[in-house]
Amino acid sequence: MREVRLSIVGFGVVGRGVTEVIRRKRAEIKEKFGLDLRVVAIVDLWGAVLASSDGKSGNEIDVDKVLDALQRGKADGLSPRESLETHGIKVEDMQSLEVIKEVEHDVMVEATPTNVESDGEPGTSHILEALKAGRHVVTSNKGPLALHFKKLMRAAERADRKIGFEATVGGAMPIISLREALAGNEILSIKGILNGTCNYILTRMSEENLPFEHALREAQEIGIAEADPKSDVLGVDTAVKLVILANALLGLDASYKDVSVTGITEITPEALNLAKNNGYVIKLIGEVDRDGKLEVAPKLVPKTHPLNVSGTLNAALLKTDLAGEIVVVGRGAGGIEAASAIIGDVIRIFRSS
Ligand SMILES: NC(=O)c1ccc[n+]([C@@H]2O[C@H](COP(=O)([O-])OP(=O)(O)OC[C@H]3O[C@@H](n4cnc5c(N)ncnc54)[C@H](OP(=O)(O)O)[C@@H]3O)[C@@H](O)[C@H]2O)c1
Repeated sequence: MREVRLSIVGFGVVGRGVTEVIRRKRAEIKEKFGLDLRVVAIVDLWGAVLASSDGKSGNEIDVDKVLDALQRGKADGLSPRESLETHGIKVEDMQSLEVIKEVEHDVMVEATPTNVESDGEPGTSHILEALKAGRHVVTSNKGPLALHFKKLMRAAERADRKIGFEATVGGAMPIISLREALAGNEILSIKGILNGTCNYILTRMSEENLPFEHALREAQEIGIAEADPKSDVLGVDTAVKLVILANALLGLDASYKDVSVTGITEITPEALNLAKNNGYVIKLIGEVDRDGKLEVAPKLVPKTHPLNVSGTLNAALLKTDLAGEIVVVGRGAGGIEAASAIIGDVIRIFRSS
């Protein structure tokens, strides 16, 4: 049995999803893969919960107790730190970089907010620091990968450590790992629906003849769209994911500024109706080919085409030289869905090392 010590940096929807999945799947992962996943550090802006100050082998955080305390505290209107302390869990005044550096562990799970508008921080520094300290990295944070792909890959190579980033594109939908599945193929182009919020809005507009603002409000009410939906509806989120795919699967050296981006805010129910009457739907499509042309824009898709997926689903069509066309479809967001991709990366890293 191999012990794998994890730190979780950023304890929001995804960070908590990872602990939840470890709680559910721990015995199964031990049995199937011989890996004993132990969370030894959880760090967020409110401080850090540690298994022990030195992360010595054998110690681990009682994740059940942490999740339970946070849930109960939230119901009582307490902050995360108050929730933990009220339930007898010690919170250290340590920041993420300090924990990454000082606490002994094998893999750092990076799940802090995405920031592509400026510098990809704090995720980029977290990843570089973890590699420097000899830790593998698994992340759901798109910013560092979209802005500094080559730099991060080089740092990982120098440190002889791996970076898993399946969760950055398509949530639970496997796509980055197709690199291994399609080894020997050349991937010629990728075309996909990479943002569940936009797909939900377009689906509702088309099905119910709703104006954009109405469908957006509905998506916000049921928690599918953020209070600030700009990054999704303007196509930024799709563009960021497209850049990651272009670099990881097509071997390009693309960055966000190389993408021509049009969002879905100008689409009207009339346009969707006209498309429908002619056998098409309108989808926000991200597209890249080997010539390095990267585009995000609403496109007509035949109703019978495999990319015509509805609701919050994501889908991608890859053209390859040997395997022809490959289509993947899956749930693009959610804490457990992202955790599915993260746990898959962790298992792959430790099975192969
Ligand atoms: N949610 C999904 O379905 C999903 C799916 C795939 C990928 N992702 C990506 O995964 C990442 C995490 O998403 P999420 O939904 O879990 O976000 P979230 O709920 O906002 O959680 C992020 C957490 O990180 C904390 N944080 C901010 N700066 C930090 C720092 N310097 N050190 C430690 N913690 C810090 C945040 O604190 P504050 O709230 O106080 O700022 C928050 O608690 C994002 O990059 C997101 O784009 C999310």
